[in-house]
Amino acid sequence: MLSAAAFFGGAPEAHASAPGRVNLLGEHTDYNDGFMLPVATPQRTEVALASSADGFFTLYSSTLDSSVRFARDSSAPPGFGRYLEGCIRMVEQEGITVPPLRVHVSTSLPVGAGLSSSAALEIAMLRALRILLGLPFDDVALARMAQRAEIHYAKVHCGIMDQMAASLADSTHMLFIDARTLAHRLTPLPPESELIVIDSGVPRTLAGSKYNERRSECDAAARQLGVASLRDVADPASVQALPPPLRERARHVVHENQRVLEALAGIDAVRFGQLMNDSHASLRDDYAVSIPALDFLSEMLRAQPGVYGARLTGAGFGGACVALCRRGMAAGAGRAALARFNDGGMQGSLLIPVPTDREDDR
Ligand code: GLA
Repeated sequence: MLSAAAFFGGAPEAHASAPGRVNLLGEHTDYNDGFMLPVATPQRTEVALASSADGFFTLYSSTLDSSVRFARDSSAPPGFGRYLEGCIRMVEQEGITVPPLRVHVSTSLPVGAGLSSSAALEIAMLRALRILLGLPFDDVALARMAQRAEIHYAKVHCGIMDQMAASLADSTHMLFIDARTLAHRLTPLPPESELIVIDSGVPRTLAGSKYNERRSECDAAARQLGVASLRDVADPASVQALPPPLRERARHVVHENQRVLEALAGIDAVRFGQLMNDSHASLRDDYAVSIPALDFLSEMLRAQPGVYGARLTGAGFGGACVALCRRGMAAGAGRAALARFNDGGMQGSLLIPVPTDREDDR
């Protein structure tokens, strides 16, 4: 494993970092032009770069201890290099020449746990390129470029939430996002609350195929309701006229948007927790993206003293659950829920608060 200093043989020319995200409310709403409330993770991805004299792009991940090399007119193989190449190509599409580069990547984000390590990688890369080349793009423009990189190069047909969060969120507020206008603002967590996030350890195997299926179902539901997107459904009762499963999918999206707007108006932690529980039930029963492990994990979290509410976070089919807790009680609740979850034969792990050696020593 090479440090950035060893890789560059000195200091890089530019470096930047970006966080992952954990979404508190507003799941599967972004590609329906809707609303969401993610928080940045304390874990971040770092990218350092310098121009290269040999005419090649050389990309090294110290987390994976793996490197990728490609010429300007060729392509990176699938893997972390694809995301980085996607960002380079997006900058080039703006008419800007990117010189051959040496790029060093490292991350403290778990990969594949549903905290959007790919968006963190893309935004960190674009930030580093912005510094190196003095690019005129603001943080929203960076999020749009990162989303296009993900869609066209990593071939994941995602919405804009993860990239907006990696570009604009912080880890002590929620970032309200309107996916249609990209209007956004930081807003405080409910008073006297804090978060816990547990990875279920279950890989998100169906995430890709079912994600695309849900997107098409939402498009079909919007068409049948005669609206541009499900965000525009004025009367929630109108979705009842749709045939199954479009009715259930639309019902989730319409109510999930309402939950975000209610939370944004400013509510206490008890009500926020109820909305999270309702969101989980809706993702499980109407949107059908939960799995038994996530239902069980969120139940174990809800059963702990000091937990206001819990839900799966991210696309579903594996990954993590998030809980809103009374301030000072998240770590204890998380440890207790995790112990009960793993007693059932699972291999979950604590992601936030980030486990530290000191905590393990206690
Ligand atoms: C994934 C996608 C996001 C969003 C969520 C579900 O994380 O990348 O755009 O659709 O799923 O809310």
